[in-house]
Amino acid sequence: MAFERVGVVGLGTMGAGIAEVFARAGLRVIGVEADAEMLARGRGLMERSTGRAVDKGKLTGAERDEILGRVTLTTSRADLRDADLVIEAIPEILDYKVSLFEDLDGICKPETVLATNTSSLSVTAIAAATGRPGRVVGLHFFNPAPVMRLVEVVSTVVTEPGVVGAVSELAGRLGKTAVTVGDRAGFVVNRLLLPYLNHAVALMEQGVAGRDDIDLAMKLGVGLPMGPFTLLDLIGLDTSYEVMEVLFDETRERRHAPSPLLRELVTAGLLGRKSGRGFYGEERVHPSEAGRSGAITFDVAGPGSEELVARLAAAGFERSGEGADVVLRLADRPVVEHAVRLRDPATMVGVHLVGDQVAELASTALTSDAAAAAAADLMKVVGLSPVPCKDRAGFVVDALLYPYLNDAVRMHDAGYASIDDIDAAMRLGCGYPAGPFQMLESLGLARVRDGLRALYAEYREPAFAPAPLLDQLVTAGASEFPRR
Ligand code: CAA
Repeated sequence: MAFERVGVVGLGTMGAGIAEVFARAGLRVIGVEADAEMLARGRGLMERSTGRAVDKGKLTGAERDEILGRVTLTTSRADLRDADLVIEAIPEILDYKVSLFEDLDGICKPETVLATNTSSLSVTAIAAATGRPGRVVGLHFFNPAPVMRLVEVVSTVVTEPGVVGAVSELAGRLGKTAVTVGDRAGFVVNRLLLPYLNHAVALMEQGVAGRDDIDLAMKLGVGLPMGPFTLLDLIGLDTSYEVMEVLFDETRERRHAPSPLLRELVTAGLLGRKSGRGFYGEERVHPSEAGRSGAITFDVAGPGSEELVARLAAAGFERSGEGADVVLRLADRPVVEHAVRLRDPATMVGVHLVGDQVAELASTALTSDAAAAAAADLMKVVGLSPVPCKDRAGFVVDALLYPYLNDAVRMHDAGYASIDDIDAAMRLGCGYPAGPFQMLESLGLARVRDGLRALYAEYREPAFAPAPLLDQLVTAGASEFPRR
């Protein structure tokens, strides 16, 4: 199966990126759009993307011209008749995709492989609309397609032997790593990523922390390339909404219901980067600036106090002990139970250090604004970025990270994908510094299991209960997941 001529139907953000990827790898590309205006938009996207590479000295002008010269643009699907592979990247509406595939089936030669870049729809349902279901696969790229190094190759129960291998080999030619998976809602990456993004929106809606602070915590604290709201804007809120709908339809888990705020923004036409405004608009990201407090006296309590006291002392701030303006209580659990034991509970702020740059600062229902502001100032003094949040189990980072890790364990335990494939998919598809199993092992299985128990006890969300496999490994004293 030789793929030399490739069709790309739909030249939006993803389609234009995919066409660029094929053209860069030396394949001839036929790009199809509905009308001349959409075609011009697609051309513009490819010109800008390759133009940026020239500006950065990654491509010469001549190379760019060669790449763009390999792409033929047309509004006629009939021009795809000789393509060896056609991939579609049109909107995520099953009826549109089904009717496109019926059409392509009639136009293309019988051996052409038809692929869908769907983020979540059933590849099987799309394949069944054609007379060649054995030659229909999912070929799922990640945004921005020219940059992210993963493709998920999705096979169905009727995919012909050989097709998956050939398409995976093609992915290698494109400079991508292929992870092959079966046809389940969200595949590997979206099944793990989108619930986390939806959860971030829920935490913001519950007032646990603000947009910029959540983004900052996940970027600086965990080392993710982008915070969840920046990433939602990149993916597109409409696409994110659609993926959540499909996940919910399959799992019927309440936490998979798309957040009402997502629906509101999508209905308002605020789709993220593609429409110019989503969670973020024109303005820049400003992590919340706690108002500057006056002269501060402070005390520190809880495990790890000495180190924080020493860091503050090195910056010229001496602990004053009893009767301080603010009591910094180091903790990885809510601190209100400690606050109520103080003479003045309004002075207590929980401090949870995440990585070496972020301090989550938990205000209880009793914490005064002055104490919260003083805590933020003290963290800045020692070079930490404060992330103000409510005094809830998991604060921000653990509340978002642990359920994601738990989902990865359940996915593996259900036999859907191997540990190595899941880790590779999250690293290469989302630019995470480590895959979920690598993260679990470096955080410590027991710590994550216990954190999940605390989250479950607080939120009573069944999916937060530790996955049985994780629980059993902790009970057995294991520090790693067995790789079979
Ligand atoms: N098109 C082409 N190239 C782009 C680009 C784009 N839209 N955006 C960035 N780049 C290139 C830049 O030119 C730069 O290239 P060089 O290194 O060769 O100079 C490189 O990417 C890094 O870009 P920047 O330095 O401008 O910015 P950055 O370091 O912040 O990286 C990022 C940007 C690559 C997008 C990074 O933030 C990242 O990896 N984010 C995570 C993205 C992610 O998770 N994607 C998956 C979403 S899920 C999905 O897509 C599936 C779905 O179905 C919903």
